[in-house]
Amino acid sequence: LVTSFDKMDAKEWQRTVNGEMFLISTAKRILPVEFVQEVFDNPAVFWTKRSSAADTETLLDNSCSLGLFKVQNGTKFPIGMARIVTDYVTLAYLTDVFVLDEFRTLGLGKWLIRCCRDIMNDIPDLRWSLLMTGNEQAQRFYRRELGMELLGSHANETVAAMGARKAHIASASAAES
Ligand SMILES: CC(C)(COP(=O)(O)OP(=O)(O)OC[C@H]1O[C@@H](n2cnc3c(N)ncnc32)[C@H](O)[C@@H]1OP(=O)(O)O)[C@@H](O)C(=O)NCCC(=O)NCCS
Repeated sequence: LVTSFDKMDAKEWQRTVNGEMFLISTAKRILPVEFVQEVFDNPAVFWTKRSSAADTETLLDNSCSLGLFKVQNGTKFPIGMARIVTDYVTLAYLTDVFVLDEFRTLGLGKWLIRCCRDIMNDIPDLRWSLLMTGNEQAQRFYRRELGMELLGSHANETVAAMGARKAHIASASAAES
């Protein structure tokens, strides 16, 4: 059995911000399950709730899960995450984008989304990249970074669906300053 993880190699990105080293990695099982459960408990993550440890492991295993870490003396401390639920060929659904409060406004969230964009650009026959988002600031952000357009919203919903065809994701990369 060839799993999607065998087919898509883990990707890693590193950068230094204010003298501190950060890492983003898609390596399988790199994100501790307890960290993800705490993220899902966070009131800022209003769209979900904690899942059991076993279910959390399953949802991480069955998506391209990006872990954001602060690296100190060779130890990786998880400080954020994002997930792309994908078949690695045609569809990518971005969700669970989160950076711990004390590490916000440093540009790490934008970096995380740009790494997601790199992954999406590598999906060979991507038809749609999709996400749901709750606020207009986030919509502007995803429009700029991922070429996302509003797909319409439902009167009873507090979240809006956004999507981008592959060409639009590519033009968002090209427009980047
Ligand atoms: C959204 C979030 C990941 C941004 O992380 P960050 O590390 O502070 O992001 P950055 O430092 O790169 O800069 C903030 C950028 O995020 C954008 N942004 C996107 N969604 C945002 C949100 N829900 N709230 C605040 N800013 C948001 C801002 O527009 C800003 O863009 P700009 O400064 O380039 O114009 C972080 O605020 C967070 O975890 N929020 C709680 C969870 C959440 O709302 N997730 C996203 C749901 S769509």
